[in-house]
Amino acid sequence: MPDDFERMWADLAPIGRSASSGGYHRSPFTAPERELDAWFVEQADARGLRVERDEIGNVVAWWDVGSGPGVLTGSHLDSVLDGGAYDGPLGVVSALAAVDALRERGFAPARPIGVATFVEEEGSRFGIACLGSRLATGAMTWEAARQLRDRDGVPFGDVVAGASSSLLADVGTFVELHVEQGRDLVDRGAAVGVGSEIWPHGRYRLDFAGEANHAGTTRMEDRVDPMLSYAMSALAANKQARLAGQRATFGRVEVTPNGTNAVPSRVTAWLDARCATEDALAELVGAIERQAIDRAGRDGTTLSLTAESVSGPVVFDPRLAASVAADHAGGDWPIIPTAAGHDAGILSAAGIPTAMLFVRNPTGVSHSPAEHAEMADCLAGVSALAETLERLSR
Ligand code: GLV
Ligand code: MN
Ligand code: MN
Repeated sequence: MPDDFERMWADLAPIGRSASSGGYHRSPFTAPERELDAWFVEQADARGLRVERDEIGNVVAWWDVGSGPGVLTGSHLDSVLDGGAYDGPLGVVSALAAVDALRERGFAPARPIGVATFVEEEGSRFGIACLGSRLATGAMTWEAARQLRDRDGVPFGDVVAGASSSLLADVGTFVELHVEQGRDLVDRGAAVGVGSEIWPHGRYRLDFAGEANHAGTTRMEDRVDPMLSYAMSALAANKQARLAGQRATFGRVEVTPNGTNAVPSRVTAWLDARCATEDALAELVGAIERQAIDRAGRDGTTLSLTAESVSGPVVFDPRLAASVAADHAGGDWPIIPTAAGHDAGILSAAGIPTAMLFVRNPTGVSHSPAEHAEMADCLAGVSALAETLERLSR
């Protein structure tokens, strides 16, 4: 079994990897991500799993055994821009390896077991995180999704056939295994943990508009410069989040016309904010918006803020989490919260009893080429997932 995981991991390693940074570029419906999708179908076929695909591009490979609602596991194959190898694929490869492990030990599930891959989990191309699972669960409408555009202006409606999906119709439970994106498990000295909750979080677009002008001839006091309004807003966001003990990030900026020798006419910046509670999130974003408006007023620029996607808090089924975590030979697995979003959060919010398993990340770094998990911990994750699937499908 270990060889199987390592072989699959080695298969994926070169796909979409940047020669310069070592990070991954696996945006949805681009060649590397489609190569991963084809790889997944090949792996499913090699195992005799029945592959079901929806119009959105989500896929489930079913081990058709037993009866009744199935136990679904899996994750996503896309990455953030210049991301790590583990965020997403670890859950998919571990799921295939866990199915192998169950079969090798002759386990006969009483319920079907499925391995899922959800598309555009990161929102790296069309801007909305967990787009595939949002559409599959009905959390987002096709009318809204089809109009989303990537950075080249290509509408989502042009790259997928539609939003019809019956993939989740026969799912009784979902378990997503994921690399941890923090240091909780390192601090606890545990190779695996179980998810308790996901912090509320959102993405907000801030459009600052000013006046283009000459960088040399325009006196400093005559400028209407949206870059200044943005820069001060980024500082304010950092300060407000620190004061509140929460998280705020500007990770993406577009400048128009983006020329060295011109005051820009427009700056569009995306704020990612995450808080322990919905009230704290509303308060944090409100404070950042107020300070941005205030600064824009002083700069003579204008600001409009648009919430592009906001996800409420997710509390995973506590009884399910406790039963997944308890009674292991080496002791109970820790139950930990996360501030990262996951398809598991979308399925849970849609009423599907859902659990998450996390695999230790020695540095906690994620959404970066430096993201890492030791092979021994990945294999511990496979065993943990196999054990969990066995418990849930008995
Ligand atoms: C997804 O990884 C997110 O939390 O942004
Ligand atoms: Mn991610
Ligand atoms: Mn992920």
